Amino acid sequence: MSNRPKPLVAGNWKMNGLRAALKELGEMGQGHDAALRAKCDLLICPPAHLVYVAAAAAIGTRIAIGGQDCHAKASGAHTGDISAEMLADSGATFCIVGHSERRADHGESNAAVKAKAEAALRAGLTAIVCVGETKDERVSGKTLAVVRRQVRNSLPDGASAANTVIAYEPVWAIGTGLTPTVADVAEVHADIRRTLKSLMKGEAAGVRILYGGSVKPDNAKALLSVDNVDGALVGGASLKAADFLAIAAAYR
Ligand code: 13P
Repeated sequence: MSNRPKPLVAGNWKMNGLRAALKELGEMGQGHDAALRAKCDLLICPPAHLVYVAAAAAIGTRIAIGGQDCHAKASGAHTGDISAEMLADSGATFCIVGHSERRADHGESNAAVKAKAEAALRAGLTAIVCVGETKDERVSGKTLAVVRRQVRNSLPDGASAANTVIAYEPVWAIGTGLTPTVADVAEVHADIRRTLKSLMKGEAAGVRILYGGSVKPDNAKALLSVDNVDGALVGGASLKAADFLAIAAAYR
């Protein structure tokens, strides 16, 4: 336990939240008091239109702001896309890449995710690289093979403990209220750590590996106590300050 990286509790607001939602951010900032700040870092990834205002609103708190996706290129003719440099310019310090909703809805391959993660690093952002198996892959016993392949092929060149986070999010656990057993989470996270060791040697021990998928206040303590779980990537329960803080309170 002693050389575990400092945990990160990250909220992914997905396509939710108008400007009025920023009041939740204010409450989160207040709840992230000195005692909790000593135990864990907090991050909110709002939709792109709120990144700049959220980063401004978070000044004076220790809540970091991140993007949910970025284009691999810094600029160009890519209508509707946002670059890592634009997110950094807006005050973001993190960017999620390869979320399963992007992999599924936008056909993002591991190679595409890797290019986005490298873009995040190029812009000085910490990349949160998401991996996770589908229900069919779990049922047919392919979980470890799928996750290994995703980690190997999505990890950015130049990845370090400081600039890269892995989020293990089983696709079937996202937004469903279902979670893997604590033993299943432990198995996958240990395997991700081994894969990282083969790729990053000594750096691997310091990489934060988050669990995501139906993390709620009532299951946070159990999930966040698992070996090699260094925080959470929270969807629905990150929209309200009370729920998000109750999850982070697992570290109090
Ligand atoms: P839920 O917490 O709503 O299941 O979402 C998880 C997720 O996809 C976070 O990126």
